[in-house]
Amino acid sequence: MKAAADPYHPVNNTDGFLVMLVAENRLMYDELADKLEQVVAATKPPEWSFDYGDMTGQANFKRAVADMMESSWVQAPVADDASLIIQAGAGSVLDSLAWSLADAGDAVLTTGPAYAAFSADFGLKGQVQLHVAPTSASNNYEPTLEDLESVYQEALQAKQSPRILVICQPNNPTGQVYSAEAMRRMIGWAKSKKNMHVVSDEIYGNSVFPGVHVTSAAQIMYEDYNNDDDGSSSSSDDKNTTYLGDRVHIVAGLSKDWGMSGFRVGSLLTHNKALQQALSISSYYDSVSQYTQWALTSMLQDAVWRDWYLAENKRRLEATFRALQDALALIDVTVYEHTEGALFAWADFSDLLQEGQTEQELWVELFEDAKILLTLGESFYGDKPGMFRVVYPWPKGGVVAMQELGRRLVKWKNARMV
Ligand SMILES: Cc1ncc(COP(=O)(O)O)c(C=O)c1O
Repeated sequence: MKAAADPYHPVNNTDGFLVMLVAENRLMYDELADKLEQVVAATKPPEWSFDYGDMTGQANFKRAVADMMESSWVQAPVADDASLIIQAGAGSVLDSLAWSLADAGDAVLTTGPAYAAFSADFGLKGQVQLHVAPTSASNNYEPTLEDLESVYQEALQAKQSPRILVICQPNNPTGQVYSAEAMRRMIGWAKSKKNMHVVSDEIYGNSVFPGVHVTSAAQIMYEDYNNDDDGSSSSSDDKNTTYLGDRVHIVAGLSKDWGMSGFRVGSLLTHNKALQQALSISSYYDSVSQYTQWALTSMLQDAVWRDWYLAENKRRLEATFRALQDALALIDVTVYEHTEGALFAWADFSDLLQEGQTEQELWVELFEDAKILLTLGESFYGDKPGMFRVVYPWPKGGVVAMQELGRRLVKWKNARMV
């Protein structure tokens, strides 16, 4: 609360708190706000935006989202029909998947370090229990088949049936982008298990550094489908709405890549007809307002602006990340070396833990003595004490804010040594 009321600003409040724990991106806020002002002012809201409409998403909005996905990281067809379901944020989609794909008391598996809220997204309403397979930086945080098998057995021993493998690509909190091999391994392994589904959470699909390729689970499934297809089996329309099969589902949204978590827009791409049907009914409770869809359709339909935005966002993300690395290097803190995106740096503060000091105590020290707020690694199933997740695109100012971070860290460390 104290920090939220007094955030750092590069001009107006240089002494404010550097809040680096909210998984949001402010680097493009001004440009986004200008664009929205422009599209909303250009025409009157159409009559349909006042009505209920299709609760799984308005047709033009679905097409605009599908186009954006296809033309960026999802290098496979994204149909804009029942296959694409729009709900109020990726969190809503994960919650819907929990109770649709599993029963209370079943298990969902993922690899660690892992997004802290998966446990609530699958567990709060769905009552599906999260199990995390630990992985390590030396293995690029990519799980081996043994890691996956061992967490599968852990769930069985707890008398919970493993029903879902959730993959976070690009990853929260490590900032890594899984290789195509790792994606293929995880998907292939889950598909080899009876009744297991893959949920690929690609909410950071466009939040990567320039030139980084994100392999979507959809790309893997499309390639596999094409390799297995002798050309005689289906028309291209059928192919575009079936290649994912019944057990692979892609989650995405506008909260992160588009810096608009408050607009509450998430999406699910699935070819499972029973799931589509279930969510076509329940989406009434999770729908996005028609007005929001109307405004965002106009924004996304401007393909020139859209592509400029995505490219510029990537450029700013990388520049800010490099400035963060420089700032942390001043106190000899390193970040996971293969960071390629998401909004995070997975930083190793373990050498700064004093004798007997806990990670939490170090967190409090940074908060009280340097006005810096990070996220505890232990809440993300961190691989060792002293890891922190750092959100670099949130403080206003980008590179300038990271330079301020560096100054504060040096001052804090020097004062600590006296
Ligand atoms: C991996 C991941 N999935 C889902 C979400 C939830 O996104 P939304 O705000 O769209 O519900 C987040 C938010 O931090 C996230 O990091």
